[in-house]
Amino acid sequence: MANRSDSKILSAKVIVALDYADAISALKLVNQLDPALCKLKVGKELFTTAGPQLVEKLVAKNFDIFLDLKFHDIPNTVSKACEIASNLGVWMLNVHASGGSVMMQAALEGVSKTSHKPYLIAVTVLTSMNQASLHEIGVAVSVENQVLKLAKLTQGAGLHGVVCSALEAQLLRQHLPNNFLLVTPGIRPANANLDDQSRVVTPSQALQMGANYLVIGRPITQAAKPIDVLIALNHEIQHGL
Ligand code: C5P
Repeated sequence: MANRSDSKILSAKVIVALDYADAISALKLVNQLDPALCKLKVGKELFTTAGPQLVEKLVAKNFDIFLDLKFHDIPNTVSKACEIASNLGVWMLNVHASGGSVMMQAALEGVSKTSHKPYLIAVTVLTSMNQASLHEIGVAVSVENQVLKLAKLTQGAGLHGVVCSALEAQLLRQHLPNNFLLVTPGIRPANANLDDQSRVVTPSQALQMGANYLVIGRPITQAAKPIDVLIALNHEIQHGL
């Protein structure tokens, strides 16, 4: 699977979301962090402005990178994009499960062509969607049932896991194998600002609910001392509150 040292993969469960509009701001934060304490997520905003060069720079700094580009396109295009992303040396990348199993298998084929073999996971239902927004695109089942259906489709296609709300992790853990990765945003330490997140859980709760990795952005990136928050988060993860 991923070609990083096992100890680093096992130790760092926090994935810091680098939601920045330019590389300089992102690197200013990254230079205060430690690859033994966290992984990093590069999403569409930062990737669009800073591109593959920044990803390669972060990989060279020994960080595990989750490239959160949520590919969703015709299978051939997704396959090629995943192969190229994989060759950047990322640790994890993702596609939209709603692209279907043929698209997801094409994504897997793309990463399999490279020697890096990152984790390939899928987004089930965006956390910004609700019953009404599913209904308007013709999905008549509940959010939970749609999440479960797409997670099973993802597992059947051979991918390594899904991005889901921690509140959905419990349900998914009951229906999917133990080694299926659950990567969860919507995490807030007790008493932290919610920002635009509506339903949040603490890091310990998310892990108890079955999450493997926790995507955490603003509680770390907006902190006066990001490294202190990260150390406290890792302490909570290892020892409980
Ligand atoms: O809120 P925070 O800064 O911790 O966000 C971390 C990540 O969670 C973001 O990069 C985004 O991928 C995701 N997110 C989400 N729902 C929101 C806001 C952010 O899933 N309402």
